[in-house]
Amino acid sequence: MANIKINIDKVYRFVDREKINALQPEITLHYNELIEKTGKGNDFVGWLNIADETLNSSIIKDITNKASYLRSQSEVIVVIGIGGSYLGARAIIESLNNAFQQYQKGNPEVIYAGQNISENYLFDLLQLLDKKDYSIIVISKSGTTTEPAIAFRLLKNHIEKKYGKENAKKRIVAITDKSRGALKKLALQEGYETFTIPDDVGGRFSVLTPVGLLPVAVAGYNIVKLLEGAVSMRRELYRTSLIAENPACLYAAVRNALYRSGKPVEMLVNFQPNLFYITEWWKQLYGESEGKEHKGIFPAGANFSTDLHSMGQYIQDGLRILFETMLLVEKTEKNLPVPFEQDDSDGLNYLAGKRIHEVNGMAAMGTAIAHYDGGVPIISISLAELNEFSLGELIYFFEFACGISGYMLDVNPFDQPGVEAYKNNMFALLGKAGYEKQREDILKKIIS
Ligand code: PA5
Repeated sequence: MANIKINIDKVYRFVDREKINALQPEITLHYNELIEKTGKGNDFVGWLNIADETLNSSIIKDITNKASYLRSQSEVIVVIGIGGSYLGARAIIESLNNAFQQYQKGNPEVIYAGQNISENYLFDLLQLLDKKDYSIIVISKSGTTTEPAIAFRLLKNHIEKKYGKENAKKRIVAITDKSRGALKKLALQEGYETFTIPDDVGGRFSVLTPVGLLPVAVAGYNIVKLLEGAVSMRRELYRTSLIAENPACLYAAVRNALYRSGKPVEMLVNFQPNLFYITEWWKQLYGESEGKEHKGIFPAGANFSTDLHSMGQYIQDGLRILFETMLLVEKTEKNLPVPFEQDDSDGLNYLAGKRIHEVNGMAAMGTAIAHYDGGVPIISISLAELNEFSLGELIYFFEFACGISGYMLDVNPFDQPGVEAYKNNMFALLGKAGYEKQREDILKKIIS
């Protein structure tokens, strides 16, 4: 495989090779269900071929044209969305971004709203936008999600006051369902440019649709390369279901073997702060896909070496219910050696001349050995480098493995019934029309 390698040598002490190989018939069954679209939730597997389809369509041109226009007008672009409607874009952008914000016109900073209901956050955002030229990309498949709807109402109000209604319109793009939902209705009524989320692609699998592509393009990254990476991985994964040759099948098999042998928590860990949102995206992908019917591997995350000084203690020494998946990047594009100091008062001259990346690599190796010795099985996934192509590969790899893994758990990986519970309570508590009965019930619960 081109850019991604998976290694499970540090798993065999916990689950032997034969047990993993014995999962092959189960893997093949679910692999076929996924690619032949005959498994649970098969009306939501449009993501399997979306990268191929998009590369062969006019959407790329429409997105890049709109992105260039928004970039030329803005120091800041606010992406409004929650869950699958923002995490994928943020994961890609932050993986590739400079670690520090730039706020330049022509090369705008992408910032986010609609993923919380914090008054302080929204107030501070409006204050920032008072001083910046900005545009808005509002994303919601259902078009009715409360968090982004509140953020968009506030920002719509703000941007119209700032630029006037007619000019504001040109700075707003909506990404939503082709015909349903309040956002679609509003976009039609106000005359916003819209992009469509395909019916057969659910939120957390939508990063390679306009949901991820437009934000990534406005951030200045190459969406063609991203899609090409995904297509290359699709071709690789469609060749065979053999665990020995298909890394997504291997990953799905190993994580389920570990789950069945008493390891219900998977921690995705990285050694690069710019991968923080890859972990957040992955947590959503696996958490919402697998955590149902009182089953599922609990997806957790840690960012090393930062969290080695907090969660590291638990991972090394706490309850032995964990396995770790280390996401490693082999090459970095920037070069920074540790400087030499004449008096060596900090005692670091033994590192002088070594690249920071090499020191980080030793931290990763040392951590893997320590955690393994402490009873934590380790899967490692290495990217040769971090760029649009390898991120496209990684995204497709995780999505594909997630589909198979969800089927191994015998759940529908493509629905999310559990997300409705808090929404219904919140609507009832806020007195939304249609929720009168739930309001009565919930008030009784609160009083009792
Ligand atoms: O994966 C999912 O389906 C969810 O996380 C959604 O993306 C999230 O709830 C946002 O939904 P919507 O795009 O309808 O606003």
